[in-house]
Amino acid sequence: MNDKIEKILFTEEEIKARVAEMAKEINDYYKGEPVVVISVLKGSVFFVVDLIKKLDMDIALDFIAASSYGSGTVSSGKLKIKKDIELDIVGKNILLLEDIIDTGETLFEIINMLKARGVKSIKTAMMFNKPARREKAVEADFIGFDIPDEFVIGYGLDYDEQFRNLPYLGVLKRSVYEK
Ligand code: XMP
Ligand code: MG
Repeated sequence: MNDKIEKILFTEEEIKARVAEMAKEINDYYKGEPVVVISVLKGSVFFVVDLIKKLDMDIALDFIAASSYGSGTVSSGKLKIKKDIELDIVGKNILLLEDIIDTGETLFEIINMLKARGVKSIKTAMMFNKPARREKAVEADFIGFDIPDEFVIGYGLDYDEQFRNLPYLGVLKRSVYEK
């Protein structure tokens, strides 16, 4: 284990097994209808790659980037779209993928923006959910794991752009960011 990690919340194997279950839930929900998957950069790339290999409907894939926490661990409360999607989504079923839902701000803003473009439907899948910190009245349709209110890294999630490549979800030692 990386020496900056306090503890592991979910191992690589546990995440893999849960992603497979989520894929089944999503397949059962769409029943073969085509879907445009929109992955929120950068955190959800591990999740999207693992998940969509297990989806059995026709899938188009696109990416969107919104401003994040930067190098801190507390939300700035302002969201900016830094990179928009490229596909035309009018009349399409959208499945929006995020690494984590925390306050709900990111999801809330992106959902509203995509809805305004005349989509047929929009559902959301989050790998991790921090219910304790929710501020917006928004919930994810498919959730991997609920997690406690701790700053987590790995499986795509970063602290100051580091640790995304860890295959597990871990809690960072406070000494790493409290100096
Ligand atoms: P909101 O508050 O908009 O947050 O729901 C979603 C975004 O905040 C980032 N985030 C985290 N990133 N460890 C991280 O590495 C965390 O524990 C964490 N909590 C929130 C993340 O970028 C997500 O897209
Ligand atoms: Mg980040």
